[in-house]
Amino acid sequence: MNNQLIYNYKKTQRITQLLGKPKISDLEKYNQLIIVIPKKESKSIWNLIPQGKKIKELIKNYSKGSSPAITSRLKNTKQTSLHIGLLNSKLEAFDRLAFSRDMIKSVTQEKAGSLAIWVLGFETDFQKKFTEEILSAALVGQFILPSFKSKSPTQKITSISLIGLDKKMITKDIVAESDGNNLTRWLTALPSNKLDADSYINLIEQMSNDFNWEIDIFRSDDLKKMEAGAFLAVSQGNDNNSAAIIKLKYKPSNIEDSKLISLIGKGIIFDTGGTNLKPFNSMLEMHIDMNGSAVALGSLLAITKQKLPIEVDCWLAITENRTGPLAYKSQDVVKAANGKTIQTIHTDAEGRMVLADTLYFASLEKPDFMIDFATLTGTCVSALTNNYSGVFTNQPYMQTILKEIGEDCGERVWPFPIGSEFLVKLKSETADLMQCAPAGGGDHILAATFLNEFVEEDIPWVHIDLSSATNAGGLAHVPTKITGFGVRYLLNILKDNRILNNNKSKSL
Ligand code: BES
Ligand code: MG
Ligand code: ZN
Repeated sequence: MNNQLIYNYKKTQRITQLLGKPKISDLEKYNQLIIVIPKKESKSIWNLIPQGKKIKELIKNYSKGSSPAITSRLKNTKQTSLHIGLLNSKLEAFDRLAFSRDMIKSVTQEKAGSLAIWVLGFETDFQKKFTEEILSAALVGQFILPSFKSKSPTQKITSISLIGLDKKMITKDIVAESDGNNLTRWLTALPSNKLDADSYINLIEQMSNDFNWEIDIFRSDDLKKMEAGAFLAVSQGNDNNSAAIIKLKYKPSNIEDSKLISLIGKGIIFDTGGTNLKPFNSMLEMHIDMNGSAVALGSLLAITKQKLPIEVDCWLAITENRTGPLAYKSQDVVKAANGKTIQTIHTDAEGRMVLADTLYFASLEKPDFMIDFATLTGTCVSALTNNYSGVFTNQPYMQTILKEIGEDCGERVWPFPIGSEFLVKLKSETADLMQCAPAGGGDHILAATFLNEFVEEDIPWVHIDLSSATNAGGLAHVPTKITGFGVRYLLNILKDNRILNNNKSKSL
């Protein structure tokens, strides 16, 4: 991979903070200033804001419901651009994040430079929560995705300051989460001739060096010995031998008896559909089919930077899904690593094939919790649009909790059932099970039911079908079509006692 393309994943952005009520002279330091106040503002708030009287007049004419409500300039040497947002504090997290995304968009449309964010007029807890949210929006909103134009765009926001807080806020975890999201989007946006399996694996090796992750790379020869026939069915169609299942391990130092979590990701470099070729429209964006692996890797980056006290295995199933003389075909029968035989039906259902073996290997390590991310099915997109991702689990009690965690953090999921009543639809004449049903709908449910057959029993497992991997215009706090959905969600799962410790109480 072109060296210039390597995104600086080691960098950590410093967020400065100016505590207490800012003075007019303080505000002169910034090129851009965001001020967010309650939609039902109290009269006295205008006395706190520089040129507040003038702004109050302007605000009478603001267009309802838009964010920012108004943009103006302060009369100072920098001509600081002012973006004022009126926020309804009753909004759900998803809507607060979308509001923040729009505020940041307004900033990045200007010449930019330094940015200060001032949230005031709310209760202290809400002020802190929303400041964190709009900071997340700033950190992902300023990030530039890969560009191959001869004149490459540069990042517009040069520094971020939080002003007007009474107490210093810890921003390390928010920056780490955004770094994870940015890495996920950066990798996913790369075209498949830039991020091919070789360059992806090189990058992962380099990261494992930089972050002290243990790494095992299982190539075709290893996988043959491991009898990973489901993964190999897909990778045998590749032009070269670059496909691999990769296992990374993050182990915090000085922590004994920590829980073991497994992250698993679908890393299809490009999904042509294989022998059952996709038509043009469906194939056009299939370089994004490695998004699940990028979510797992981005999450591992965030977990490492947050120094979380848990042990994490990260499994990435990396291969292309191609046509060609060696590519697998309908009705081939292969044997997965857990000994189950699979009758292939449709070569475009490659994701569940590569994940079958990978999930099995992950579950052999007996983790306390495992979760996979995959752009697995078109039917999940048909069912949910791109606004939600699908969630499936072998622990029915988790369903409502998983949905609630999504609502609370603004990266939302919607639960679907799995289980034996669906497994009968995958009954095969010639093998233990069919890869998918030749007809009948509900493929996202059947795909998850299929995957469940490869998770060793008793291991709590969650599958995320990433229907919100892309969304035109962005999603929640993220302004780009590629959303990086999943990193924030996973981090919030890990913080929730009800999932990792099976406790009734909500958070650590
Ligand atoms: N990667 C696709 C699913 C996908 C399509 C995700 C569009 C996001 C956006 C997956 O490999 C696939 O092709 N699935 C098939 C399965 C079918 C043949 C049973 C599909 O959904 O059409
Ligand atoms: Mg496919
Ligand atoms: Zn695919």
